[in-house]
Amino acid sequence: MDSFQYRNGQLFAEDVSVADLAEEYGTPLYVYSRTHLIEQYNTLVAAMADVEPVVCFSVKSNTCAAVINTLAGLGSGADVVSGGELFRALRAGIPASKIAFAGVGKTRDEIRYALEEDILFFTVESEPEVERINECAVELGLKGRIAVRVNPDVDPKTHKYTSTGKKENKFGVDLSRARAACERAAALPAVDMVGIHMHLGSPLMDVSPYVEALEKVKDFCLEMKAKHATFRYIDIGGGLGIKYRESDEPFTPAQFADAVLPHLKEMGLQVVMEPGRFIAGNSGILVTRVQYVKDNAFKRFLIVDAAMNDLLRPPLYEAYHEILPVTETSETFFGDVVGPICESGDFMARDRDLPTASEGDLLAVCSAGAYAFAMSSNYNSRPRAAEVMVSGDRHQAVRERESRDDLVRGENIPEW
Ligand code: LLP
Repeated sequence: MDSFQYRNGQLFAEDVSVADLAEEYGTPLYVYSRTHLIEQYNTLVAAMADVEPVVCFSVKSNTCAAVINTLAGLGSGADVVSGGELFRALRAGIPASKIAFAGVGKTRDEIRYALEEDILFFTVESEPEVERINECAVELGLKGRIAVRVNPDVDPKTHKYTSTGKKENKFGVDLSRARAACERAAALPAVDMVGIHMHLGSPLMDVSPYVEALEKVKDFCLEMKAKHATFRYIDIGGGLGIKYRESDEPFTPAQFADAVLPHLKEMGLQVVMEPGRFIAGNSGILVTRVQYVKDNAFKRFLIVDAAMNDLLRPPLYEAYHEILPVTETSETFFGDVVGPICESGDFMARDRDLPTASEGDLLAVCSAGAYAFAMSSNYNSRPRAAEVMVSGDRHQAVRERESRDDLVRGENIPEW
């Protein structure tokens, strides 16, 4: 959270007062630090410099064009998971040659789009998908590149909803079936089998699952490399954890590099990485204004103007997000920060010590740069928040607040 610091008791985003931003753009408001994005990207690339990875920013974590464009400017690629994300990544300036397309349910339409754009590769999640990509490529007279996503059955020790590399998950092909899947792909006329992909889950706070997974796939990769001239990539996915609370101790990029580089060097393949949260997570805050202070017999609720439609992580994963007062205070109360949505799950913080605040005060929900706006919705017919990017003392709305008209765009009432 280095880019969000207090100065004379006021929270700043880089060199801009958060209260001024709230005044100018309204609340709820997402604020992103461009400097933080750049630092995170550069730190990771520097730590992994020995293998010169292709870093594909995981666009699902933050779909904001200004964020993607900032990273494109640093040389980043993109990990996309739908035709929509592919469209966003290309539009924001990521070259197709650095885009990896993942996801268990790619439609023919999405596959054709990606083939026509000539992306880096598809990470394929099942045997039928290999056949489908081949068929689409034959139809178009093109050739697709594919990396088979291997499910290494490693426990990432994260929330059950965000764990992806265990055998009971829907993702990837079991290691026991991967050889057959790769051989089949290699034999098809319109696909090149260019590597393997893994993504264990998210967020990981420990490097050992990565090491375990690499140890499991290493011999297989060396075998494929020896057999197939096209086989040249190992995509190690994303999942690098970040600090959500003071006591969190995620591994550093240097610790990550120390743990994985020996294995990667032994394989001698081009490394691809897909970090999302590591780059964007602590680049953002969600600024919200207290509407009411409500006490009941048990506890106090701060009712704010942001809600679970803006930030779904606390109700969905019981995720912890630090909450800071925009005007510094050391006074606290025990209770909840909740939104106006008609669900008991609509909370940003529950049963904990929180900064004391009154009606009209501003709060900053921290670590809201990844899987925050990107997972927002219009539930309860709430227009989505605006997004602002800050760089030094500059700031700009990079996505306008939705209007009520936006809420009903495309809706029709039948004449009958
Ligand atoms: N690559 C693949 C194939 C993925 O599925 C994901 C995330 C990533 C990369 C990026 O993971 P990251 O580096 O950001 O951890 N909504 C959840 C997280 C879901 C992650 C889904 N896949 C949350 O808010 O925690």
